[in-house]
Amino acid sequence: MIIGAPRELQVGEKRVAMTPNSAFQLQKLGFECMIETGAGNGAGFPDTSYKEAGVKIVKTASSLWKQSDIIIKVQAISKIEETYLKKGKTIISFFWPAQNQELLERIVSSGVNQIAMDMVPRISRAQKMDALSSMANIAGYRAVMEAGNHFGRFFTGQITAAGKMPPAKVLVIGAGVAGLAAIGAAQSLGAIVRSFDVRPEVAEQIESMGAEFLLLEFDEDGSGEGGYAKPASPEFIEKEMALFRDQAPEIDIVITTALIPGRPAPKLWPKEMVDLMKPGSVIVDLAAEQGGNCNLTKANKVITTDNGIKIIGYTDFPSRMSAQSSTLYSTNIRHMLDDLTPKNDGKIKINLKDDVIRGALVSYNGTLTFPPPAPKVSAIGKPTTASENTGISKEEKALIEQAAIRKSGQQQLGLLAAGGLFMLIVGNYAPASFMQHFIVFALACFVGFQVIWNVSHALHTPLMAVTNAISGIIILGALLQVGSNSFVVTLLASISVFIATINIVGGFLVTKRMLAMFQKS
Ligand code: NAI
Repeated sequence: MIIGAPRELQVGEKRVAMTPNSAFQLQKLGFECMIETGAGNGAGFPDTSYKEAGVKIVKTASSLWKQSDIIIKVQAISKIEETYLKKGKTIISFFWPAQNQELLERIVSSGVNQIAMDMVPRISRAQKMDALSSMANIAGYRAVMEAGNHFGRFFTGQITAAGKMPPAKVLVIGAGVAGLAAIGAAQSLGAIVRSFDVRPEVAEQIESMGAEFLLLEFDEDGSGEGGYAKPASPEFIEKEMALFRDQAPEIDIVITTALIPGRPAPKLWPKEMVDLMKPGSVIVDLAAEQGGNCNLTKANKVITTDNGIKIIGYTDFPSRMSAQSSTLYSTNIRHMLDDLTPKNDGKIKINLKDDVIRGALVSYNGTLTFPPPAPKVSAIGKPTTASENTGISKEEKALIEQAAIRKSGQQQLGLLAAGGLFMLIVGNYAPASFMQHFIVFALACFVGFQVIWNVSHALHTPLMAVTNAISGIIILGALLQVGSNSFVVTLLASISVFIATINIVGGFLVTKRMLAMFQKS
């Protein structure tokens, strides 16, 4: 099949859905790639770089659409592009189906399959295809850069011969993907960062990044479905505003990212808060496109209020970092196509049983497939508890847990008794020297089982690194036995050395990889 990436037609859009690198990977999946001439210029990828990656350059959009079976784009198709629609083609792009109902109807009636990158569910397996998160990550980072551009001071505090400069105080409202990226960027520039979110589970993430989580004494969990928030009650919002009212006079930079999918952005930083801020302070309203978290925000504009506060309402932060965002977005698309091509034979297969593909598919073979059914897997970062899944109360849950502990205790006692009996029987017949080793062996198995079996799967890799020590003991023992006169003992010792070496080398490699994840290159 042929994949084509046309030039983006929306004014100011500099991103491109295919980069030379992603095209190279797509060709490995068996696809042929083509791009409209100049499509990558805005992101810093000239036609020549595509040619070198084996991509065919096509002169016009109409010719590209005619030849391609799959069209990959950033923005949803425009009026002009609607004239190129032909049954059986597949388009992969952002689409916002809830906001673009009429276009969706036209797409459905044209028989084109539409995969909306903004509908990829937030589940672990889909992270590599989650274009919303990659773009929000960039937006969060860029929000800090833009704030710095309009802020008249350093982020970090300094004491110099010419005077003392206090660090900037940054407040990030909403610690989703964009918020956490903003916290990371502001923190690394040396600012004092505070943050608030309605979802209590993000408190740890905020604190692990070195920022302060502003605690609100109110018993309400704002976590909703799919890793997103649910609307907060008016009482909660009132408490939240009181918290912000206290912060406003101190804070130099506010970055607001609060959003509940499918709803207008909550007004969390109204004029009264802006009036409380010091002149020269900056507000970056990432939710500007959904009406803004601040009432004074003007989408796509920077305004200065009467009291000297700058409010940035850009809605194109990712496009302002087009090389980075195109690289991430094209990788998200490449992973989506990888998922769609199970046999790596250059032919896509739309598998409706695949949670991710079904979630993102909004039009299929002339049928409307939006909204999708809720994914069967829980969202990232959302802890699921028994009471959430089954609707049982906390007390009932505690009783069930106690009964389970009692049952497991009885089972262990039973096992211990059976083990003791077995030892007694073996000890009756076996020689004393054998029994000494056998008991140590049985106890080692028991302790090893208890130590390793109860470790959660996520910790198996660090555990493997730690077991290197045990492998060392095994090698030592095996080396002592390898020169034995008995062939069986030599063979067993050699096998032990071999397996323990695999464990040690593997352990080191895994540890090295894990440490590299925490290192700045
Ligand atoms: P997200 O859903 O991951 O994060 C939003 C966060 O806001 C969630 O953690 C949620 O719990 C929190 N929140 C909701 N109501 C709140 C309240 N009342 N108080 C405090 N926190 C609250 O969304 P993501 O991906 O981080 O995006 C954030 C915003 O950035 C969205 O509005 C998105 O549209 C926008 N965005 C803007 C771009 C631009 O160029 N301006 C580009 C990309 C994203």
